[in-house]
Amino acid sequence: MTEGPSLFGPVASDLVSVEDGLQADIDRDPPEVGAPMAELFAAGGKRIRPALVLLAAKCGRYDLERLRPAAMAVELTHAATLVHDDVIDRSTTRRGRPTVAATLGDEPAIVIGDFYFARAYEHAARTGVPEVVDILARAVMAICAGEVRQQAIRYRYSTDQAEYMRRIEAKTATLLAACCDIGALLGGVAGDKRDALRAYGRELGLAFQIADDVLDYTATEGEVGKPIGHDIIEGFATLPLMLASIALEDQRRLTEREARDVVTSVRDSDGPRLALDEARKHAHAARQQLRLLEMSDASSTLASLADYVVTRKL
Ligand code: IPE
Ligand code: IPE
Ligand code: MG
Ligand code: MG
Repeated sequence: MTEGPSLFGPVASDLVSVEDGLQADIDRDPPEVGAPMAELFAAGGKRIRPALVLLAAKCGRYDLERLRPAAMAVELTHAATLVHDDVIDRSTTRRGRPTVAATLGDEPAIVIGDFYFARAYEHAARTGVPEVVDILARAVMAICAGEVRQQAIRYRYSTDQAEYMRRIEAKTATLLAACCDIGALLGGVAGDKRDALRAYGRELGLAFQIADDVLDYTATEGEVGKPIGHDIIEGFATLPLMLASIALEDQRRLTEREARDVVTSVRDSDGPRLALDEARKHAHAARQQLRLLEMSDASSTLASLADYVVTRKL
């Protein structure tokens, strides 16, 4: 299920055409890789990243034919990171369905993810603008570097907020910033305005990941379609835990029972609320960036997206 017109405003119908492009593309892929990816798309997803490409471009000159491959590229990049992320996080549910790794095994999941990273660059190249490939490549390199750093601190629950911010910057904010940057570039938005859109994407990404990390403690699996309490069981300390001031012994995987107790303690603490306060600050900073742009349907939709990411339940 994709979000309705209200969330993505003036680009909602064009996002349907991006979706159709993705669908048609995946249908032509070898079924070994295409079928699991088709299922992942059919299972849902909010499509925030392609929406950002289109909305950023709407702040300038808007040409859907040039934007479509770029929007497809960022969503495929995101999908590929999810397939790999679920291997790394040993997660068995995504978008309410078994993950690719749970269905087919880790090895096929890794190669399927690789296939779609490559496909994403192919689409990025179809824009005819080499800088689009460059921006996307740099974002993926930052995500990978972030993932490697995250592995190094797995089961180190005492990591601090500065480390947490660096981590979420790399793994989430860079891609959202890249989406806005690519949209701005293709829309001919230059100088300060392009910088502002990129900075908006970055702040939005920070808010978005903090909210995701709060939902990992406060939501239900039915709401978010992925396991709850999963970050701590996999050894990742996130902001709600840090702000709950719960001390855990480092370098050891928690038992399921211990993890459940930690989740309950965090839920009962001020941690989630304080973390959401932090997310709201970044959402506010995101909105502040938009002041540099002319008021339009696109800029007000970007502003509402900043509200949405900190109030979302999915
Ligand atoms: C999940 O991203 C991974 C994070 C960066 C938190 P989304 O929450 O955008 O996932 P979908 O695409 O909507 O399923
Ligand atoms: C996002 O972090 C990782 C990626 C950038 C793919 P999470 O591990 O929190 O994402 P979910 O919760 O599995 O969607
Ligand atoms: Mg994960
Ligand atoms: Mg998460």
